[in-house]
Amino acid sequence: MTNGKLERVTRAVYPGSFDPPTNGHLDVIERAAGCFGELIVAIVVNPQKRAPMFSLEERVAMLKASVARVAGVRVEHFRGLLADYVKAAEADVIVKGLRVVSDFESEMSAAMMNRSLSDVDTLFLMADHEYSFVSSSLVKEVFFLGGDVAALVPEPVLRVMAEKRNSLQRR
Ligand code: PNS
Repeated sequence: MTNGKLERVTRAVYPGSFDPPTNGHLDVIERAAGCFGELIVAIVVNPQKRAPMFSLEERVAMLKASVARVAGVRVEHFRGLLADYVKAAEADVIVKGLRVVSDFESEMSAAMMNRSLSDVDTLFLMADHEYSFVSSSLVKEVFFLGGDVAALVPEPVLRVMAEKRNSLQRR
């Protein structure tokens, strides 16, 4: 990014539930980290959709371990509105990943809402086609029904998922 407006972008926020982080998330993180001076991976504490399976502490630990070798990345968390967090963090832009066309509809309205609330733009990165079918919810479903997700999540995530499955089985 050496010319045009993007030259000014230095701090980006990549928000998500990360319940759990997947290789698709990591791919976006690695590529976004190459575009911006600083990338904050921001975990929403209470996702709107449903109660997370993994605690905030587990999600922070999984993400920190997964991004340890990626330079310029910080893992944080936030409560409430993303637009408020982005302003408080003095970030220049929000980054989101798009996997398939159907992601675009909801992401477009979220981007417009966030822009109207905070005047911050959202930039989209296309997910690598290798990960176009990978979502946290599918990964959880497959794993907890005994399927192999080793190729779909970072190694530290797989370990925490295995611990969670063992602790659930002991109950
Ligand atoms: O990984 P997800 O669940 O798709 O991430 C969704 C997230 C965290 C980006 C979204 O739910 C969010 O921004 N939550 C914070 C509350 C908020 O600002 N809602 C209005 C969004 S336009």
